[in-house]
Amino acid sequence: MNVQHHSPVTLPFNPPSYVRHSGLKTWVAEIAGLCQPDRVVWCDGSDEEYRQLCEGMVKTGTLIRLNPDKRRNSFLARSDPSDVARVEDRTFICTTDKDDAGPNNNWEDPAVMKAILERLFRGSMQGRILYVVPFSMGPVGSPMARIGVELTDSPYVVISMKIMTRMGREVLEALGTAGEYVSGLHSVGKPLRPGERDVPWPCNTQKFIVQFPETREIWSYGSGYGGNALLGKKCFALRIASTLARDEGWLAEHMLILGLESPLKEKIYLAAAFPSACGKTNLAMLIPPEPFKDWKVTSVGDDIAWIKSGSDGRLYGLNPEMGLFGVAPGTSERTNPNAMAMLHENCIFTNVALTPEGDVWWEGMTENVPEQLIDWQGQEWTPEIARTTGRRAAHPNARFTVPLRQCPCLDPAWQNSDGVPISGFVFGGRRATTVPLVFQSYDWNSGVYTAATLGSETTAAAAGKVGQVRRDPFAMLPFCGYHMGDYFAHWLRVGQSLAHPLPIFCVNWFRRDAKGRFIWPGYGENMRVLKWIFERIQQRAGAAKTPLGWTPRYEDIDWTGLRSVTPSQFEELTRIDAEAWREELHRHGELFEKLEERLPPELLQHRGLLEKTL
Ligand code: OXD
Ligand code: MN
Repeated sequence: MNVQHHSPVTLPFNPPSYVRHSGLKTWVAEIAGLCQPDRVVWCDGSDEEYRQLCEGMVKTGTLIRLNPDKRRNSFLARSDPSDVARVEDRTFICTTDKDDAGPNNNWEDPAVMKAILERLFRGSMQGRILYVVPFSMGPVGSPMARIGVELTDSPYVVISMKIMTRMGREVLEALGTAGEYVSGLHSVGKPLRPGERDVPWPCNTQKFIVQFPETREIWSYGSGYGGNALLGKKCFALRIASTLARDEGWLAEHMLILGLESPLKEKIYLAAAFPSACGKTNLAMLIPPEPFKDWKVTSVGDDIAWIKSGSDGRLYGLNPEMGLFGVAPGTSERTNPNAMAMLHENCIFTNVALTPEGDVWWEGMTENVPEQLIDWQGQEWTPEIARTTGRRAAHPNARFTVPLRQCPCLDPAWQNSDGVPISGFVFGGRRATTVPLVFQSYDWNSGVYTAATLGSETTAAAAGKVGQVRRDPFAMLPFCGYHMGDYFAHWLRVGQSLAHPLPIFCVNWFRRDAKGRFIWPGYGENMRVLKWIFERIQQRAGAAKTPLGWTPRYEDIDWTGLRSVTPSQFEELTRIDAEAWREELHRHGELFEKLEERLPPELLQHRGLLEKTL
């Protein structure tokens, strides 16, 4: 789909000599004509370029340089208070046939949407620079990797893309004269009139995050924040890639990948899906507690996995990203020491609080709350102010952006161009009731049922109400680029194609007691559940049969060194309450009704079976 009726390009355009892709040059020229920036800058991805961009943003007030004695080469950005999370209600999948987008997505006709967007983008970069950001999702040259090019008027996006992806000249060289790429166009939607002073965080009250899966295009307007603006992440690596994966027979998933090695040096990799802000980053970097010190947990990725079957018929997973864009609040030496160790240098913090020493702070970072801070909106903050007004020092969806290479528990194979062999899948949600601590589905199809009907309480990662249970199939509800019924069918097909379908587990760290307190200690103690999963995969661990699947009995979990979970608490954690499950199955039915004709019959059959056994 080309941009029509644009004005001719009359600005310094000058692609560097290594840009040999004439299609790319034409597209950039067209977009420059449409958006009318003052200049076009082709990003080479160098450290020098990063340094200069950061310095420029310190001058304009977009970034605050942190005290280098506390956090070397690190910055704080404060967003506009209206631009703090992904905007799911402004996110669209535009396919020719509305049914292809499914009831799980907002839809508009591609031509209609293009017309709306062209109106918005016309002149939207006036007074700004258009940056051309070539990036690779996955190691450059890997058979699993894909190239994207993001055109953006936000230097904050450029530096974030440098951390989150393989970005720059090397990618354009790999693209050659006619390579394929996903095109992403992003504007904060705030043109500057001649002489107009910019604000630290330009954005627009009107927002559109639009995917065109058929033409592999992304147009994002009005937001500078995270998944709305860093187009390699949710827009490309999940929404567009899930469609590519459906067409080509692989999987693009909202999953972490971790390595798990026993004291006997047997090693497996697990891929695990959880909805946003449910602890994927913490789990991916778990440090085994003392009694398990001879076990090793290593990280390949914390958010996205691209999974394909290899020539040996096994599934291989690749993390297409290069960095973490993690939720800061709640991250601490207790909950995630590995993440804390990563955050000493080369970080961008967004919407956290600033200490008088020029360091950062967020709720849950330390037990002692600082006496005095500047909060995420630049206002003075004290514990007293918090008590009286309820104001938080950091926004609940405040983030750190940090290179993955700084991760102390990085898996040696994290950049393997063919990925790592996956031995099992784990699905989890945030559920105060009903869902037991862990169970293993009886087979692939019942595992697909469990993942398809995953429910979770909503978090601050997306704009909207927090804490309400919604169905979030495969933790992909906001990220699946096509009809969810087709997506379930795709998963069932993948299972059929495997010589040995992988075991599928379901976990819930978040069950609460009658007083509303979490029963399971979580974090490092999740190692006990990982060990049970590991031993199930090795066919060494015991379990009891339940209607949902195999669950550990008390004696099947290694309790060495943990006394805070009593057998009766364990019983509460793993109890399958028939009444609650009848209600749960009713909710599954509501989801299935929405998906109607495209729902694979296998899932309805399985629901019938559960109804009978429960
Ligand atoms: C994320 C999300 O930012 O899922 O990873 O919202
Ligand atoms: Mn995520």
